[in-house]
Amino acid sequence: MVSELKNGIWWVGIVDWGLKHFHGFELSTHRGSTYNSYLIADEKIALVDTVWSRFTSEFIENVREVVDPAKIDYVIAQHAESDHSGSLPAIMDLCPKATLVVSPRGQASISGHYHKPWKFHVVKTGDKISLGGCELVFIEAPMLHWPDSMFTYVSGKGVLMPNDAFGQHYATCLRFNDQVDQKELYEEALKYYANILTPFSDMVLKKIDEVLALDLPVDMICPSHGVLWRKDPLQIVRAYQDWARQTPQDRAVVLFDTMWNGTRRMAEAIGDGLEREGVPYVLCHMGNSDRNDVVTKIFEAKAVVVGSPTVNRGPLPTLMPILEELRGLRFKNKIGAAFASYGWSGESLSIIEKRLEESGVTLVSKGVKALWAPSAEELAKCTELGREVGKAVKARP
Ligand code: FEO
Repeated sequence: MVSELKNGIWWVGIVDWGLKHFHGFELSTHRGSTYNSYLIADEKIALVDTVWSRFTSEFIENVREVVDPAKIDYVIAQHAESDHSGSLPAIMDLCPKATLVVSPRGQASISGHYHKPWKFHVVKTGDKISLGGCELVFIEAPMLHWPDSMFTYVSGKGVLMPNDAFGQHYATCLRFNDQVDQKELYEEALKYYANILTPFSDMVLKKIDEVLALDLPVDMICPSHGVLWRKDPLQIVRAYQDWARQTPQDRAVVLFDTMWNGTRRMAEAIGDGLEREGVPYVLCHMGNSDRNDVVTKIFEAKAVVVGSPTVNRGPLPTLMPILEELRGLRFKNKIGAAFASYGWSGESLSIIEKRLEESGVTLVSKGVKALWAPSAEELAKCTELGREVGKAVKARP
């Protein structure tokens, strides 16, 4: 169902209630998502982004509820990823007179995806298009989170449309941030940042400074996923500044998998050591945990401690995806350590330590290795390991 956000600005997007994974299986989306598209009906008509192709029919119905698509003058494609551009071919067929507005990198990415002879208009930061009463102002935002990413500001309405930035995978029929459960909203916004945007944190800070320096009045921030920020809209900008600085909390995440409970007992002993140092921690059994949720916990924590038995000369396969993810995300300001049980070859400890170092994690303690089921002495070493990590957490600014 469409809704008018402000006089002449309409949400014509789609709620994807059933979405469980995004980017293939890269990202879990327990609460579904939305693909937000906006129609600005002034003397000229502009459509900002579209939706995933599997929702094209419903999307076009939404557009028709507001205007005849043939009357659209401008289609703004802020980013080529298919969740926002998938319905472009269908909509462009319906408005043959429309100009397709893209960033310089967007021309390449949209052309590369669709190979169509559309009438492109390339805009750079500061370029404007007048719709009559209001004006669209464009701001290139490369690597937030693709090279082509672009923001659109609707001058005269105080509305910023930043595409993927400030979004959340959060399906709801409520459109605004003040209408939904605040804890759920925070969880989804943080998960989105931690799992998608962290590698671009330096650029996030620069771009926010650049946009704030323009001193534009912002009444509403309308991202391309989830709810729109109308109550204290800059709260999500402040949260992004905080997250982008990557100053984690004095807490730890102990993640492990286990075959016959030896590694599990080691993990619990490490937790005991952390507790003795007064450092809050969570144990995450990777056989039972969602990788992206654990990544989010690690993002917030100062320390990460990882353990596994050795199987086929390495850690259990359940550990490898998150180790690979951490290597790609390269969180800053993390400390950590490793632990492992083994029966004969015992390579998992050194493999985990190497992966943690490749992820930018500073190892603060020699790892603990236990042959067969951990002995009382080996468990005591694990408790000591937990204490060392706990002390390092407290010692670091
Ligand atoms: Fe980068 Fe929502 O797509």
